[in-house]
Parts: sequence; C-alpha cells; structure tokens
Amino acid sequence: MKRLLSGVAALLMAGLTANSAMAQKVYPERPVTIVVPAAAGGPSDTVARLVADSMSKTLGQQVVIENMGGAGGSLGAGKVAKAEPDGYTLLLYHIGVATFGALYSSLPYKPAELSSVGLITDVPMTLVGRSDLPAQKVAEVISFIKAQNGAATFGTAGVGAVSHLCGILLQQAIGAKLTTVPYKGTGPAMTDLIGKRIDLMCDQTTNTVNQIKVKEIRVYAMTTPKRIGILPEVPTLQESGLGGFEVTAWHALWAPKGTPEAIRQTLSLALQKALADPVVISRFADLGTSPVPAELAVPAALDQRFQSEIARWSKLIAEAGEVAK
Ligand code: MLT
Repeated sequence: MKRLLSGVAALLMAGLTANSAMAQKVYPERPVTIVVPAAAGGPSDTVARLVADSMSKTLGQQVVIENMGGAGGSLGAGKVAKAEPDGYTLLLYHIGVATFGALYSSLPYKPAELSSVGLITDVPMTLVGRSDLPAQKVAEVISFIKAQNGAATFGTAGVGAVSHLCGILLQQAIGAKLTTVPYKGTGPAMTDLIGKRIDLMCDQTTNTVNQIKVKEIRVYAMTTPKRIGILPEVPTLQESGLGGFEVTAWHALWAPKGTPEAIRQTLSLALQKALADPVVISRFADLGTSPVPAELAVPAALDQRFQSEIARWSKLIAEAGEVAK
C-alpha cells in the first residue's frame, strides 16, 4: 500500500511539473489581451499601449488592448477576475482597484480573485480647469468652488477612479462640495473640459501635460509632494496650503487568480523588460512619469503596495463619509 501511494504521489508530481513546464514552454502561443477598464485615449490607455507594444516583442505574441470603461473601472476588473486563468486575459489599471472594496457594496468580483504581476509606473496628477475659469491660482479655485455652493462641476472617470479619489481628498481638504460628472474615462472628460462644458478635473499628467502646454486647459497645482520636472512652474497643492495632500496614480498589471506561477513570472519578466525599453522610458518622460524600478515590477511588490493602499483609502473614504454605492 505504501509503495502504491508513493507511486501515485510520484505520478501526480510528474503531472504537475509537466503541466507547469508545458505552461512555461508554450506560453504565450496566441495573442494576449490586456483589459484597460477606462476609455481609449485616456491616461491608463496611454500607459497600457506603450507597455503592451514593448511586451509583445518579448513575448513573441501580439498584446492587444481591450477598453472597457464604466463604474470607475470595476466592471473591467471584474471581467478579468472571472476570466480563464491561462495568462491570455490580463488587467492593467491603477490605485482604483485597491479602493473598489470600500466604495462598492457589491462588486462583480472579489478583490482576491485578482493575482498580482507587477507595478508599472506612479503617475503624478494635476488639478486643472477650463481655460476660461475665473481663477488664476489654487486659492482662487477654492473661492470659486465655495462661491458655487456645490455646483462647480468636476469631471471624473466614475466611482473609484483616481480622478474621483482625488476629488474626495480635495473636497475634504477645502471643506466644500463639488458636483462630480462621471465619464467612462478621463479621455472623454478631457474633451468636455477643453470644450468648457465642465469646470475642473484632477487628472494624470499622461492626459493633461499636452493640453496644458498648448493652453487648452489651465493647470493650478500638482498632487505630488514635490513639483515635477516637466512642469517646474506648477506649485504643489501642499505648497498652496493643502498640507499633506498627496495622491498619485500608480498603475499595475494583474492576472486572474489561479494563473500558473510560471506564466506570472514570464509576464513579470516581460514587463520588467518593457520598463527598461528606451522607447517606453522616453514616452513616459514626455508625459511626466517614469517606470518603476525592475524590482517593483514583480508580484510581491504589487501585493505589498495593494495592501497598504487598501488600508490608507478605506480610512480616508470612511472619514470623507463616502458610502459604498
Ligand atoms: C483613465 O484612464 O481614464 C483614468 O485612469 C481614469 C481615472 O481617473 O482613474
């Protein structure tokens, strides 16, 4: 009986090793889809397309982007969480994923149904307004918001989007309400800001820096603790009197839970190579951001960041009285 059992165990082990070896050997053998849960042309889409192009060279298969905006990105995250854990459906999004649990009473998935691949970049954000807003600096923006008595319009990509999270912090910091206008992404919201159909937005430099440069929109401040090289003249919100104000859009790659370890490693290595790609580095720099160091483009580093952000934002969201929808 003992010999029989050890024989069965050996067979099982052989099967498992063969399985991961098979997974390792042929993955990927067809195009890989990255779901970006926000509209095309927006900041997350911009990051995703640059990274996907470079990863496809390493993986030897096309990496295609599928945009699925809506509900702050939680719908697209749910699609990936429920997808086959075979490495062919991935999620590229950001800090929002760590806040959905606190902002939604019912999600189309459980946060634990996503497994980490690695961090990508930490994008600074800017407080921006329509080019004819009667305000030249942060103090005047705050007076404008207060004078509007809650009617000042603020574009976001929906509940849980980082543009929305920034709005939560801003309203709390200035003690005044905004009227948030949700879009499927800040790409379409930017169109309305340029069109002067909304007043303000807090959005990533990857989506704002080019519009700021051509004065299609007005920039008031950075959400980072320090000024950034590409916009040296733009003060921070902290410099402008909002002590401790800080939010950035860290982006990352996830796979469905159960995706073989070997495949996640292959993806993490391809991601690290993409973040060392001179094309990606220079495009990111043009847009005010930079890749994370290679040692952060791994599952463990994303797990750690994810847990610390869940803790931070659950508290902030509760303090701000934002109730789960
Ligand atoms: C986008 O790509 O539209 C943004 O990342 C959405 C957001 O503000 O979170």
